[in-house]
Amino acid sequence: MSNRKVVIAVDGYSSCGKSTFAKAIAKKLGYAYIDSGAMYRATTLYGLQNGMFDANGVLNAPKLIAALPHISITFRFNGEKQRNETFLNEACVEDEIRTIAVADKVSRVAEIGEVREQMVRLQQQMGKEKGIVMDGRDIGTVVFPDAEFKIFMTADPLIRAQRRYDELKAKGEEVDINEVEANIRQRDHIDENREVSPLRKASDAFILDNSHMTVEEQMIWVEEHLNRILSN
Ligand code: DC
Repeated sequence: MSNRKVVIAVDGYSSCGKSTFAKAIAKKLGYAYIDSGAMYRATTLYGLQNGMFDANGVLNAPKLIAALPHISITFRFNGEKQRNETFLNEACVEDEIRTIAVADKVSRVAEIGEVREQMVRLQQQMGKEKGIVMDGRDIGTVVFPDAEFKIFMTADPLIRAQRRYDELKAKGEEVDINEVEANIRQRDHIDENREVSPLRKASDAFILDNSHMTVEEQMIWVEEHLNRILSN
């Protein structure tokens, strides 16, 4: 494979296995991996920590927008835990941003134009040296419209629900599969229908429907495509 460093944009629906897949590509190529969703989650956590949601969970958007200059988000690799961690104003928040409290509110934060502008600026900064795999919803369309390799991931909602259900069960959470499926369909709906940067397949993205594919099969798919892209 050529040594030319490129940008790989991985977009798609929630619970498609985007981050597992994107991490595996980054590892294989020795690239940096950036989870752009973690940045929206960290911004949501900042709002929660600073009393910006009322008792009904409604966000005071102007307050969050005014606080944006005080929100710094970075990623660091933790060798002991062998994972990339998200830092909010120098504090590791990797576990807190994965809680239900944050998951429930993040889509409201992600639809604010000013928040997206700040996140996109940061993401572009992180990718300016190339050699990066970034996953999210608008990476191939807005963040890196010139990315050399764009992947749009999808999978049957029922299969995604089953995977998410298995994951939650493994963590010891009591969940109802119908609720999980409803939540996935609702998130798809919000992602596809928000006004600012809705989830769309870039016209030059390759579709990867992994409903019936193992991670190994997905990696073979990537290699085949990447070889072709890098030899052009
Ligand atoms: O991928 P995730 O579940 O961690 O994403 C969290 C939220 O952020 C989800 O509501 C979608 C949103 N998001 C976004 O709007 N744009 C991105 N590039 C990444 C995530």
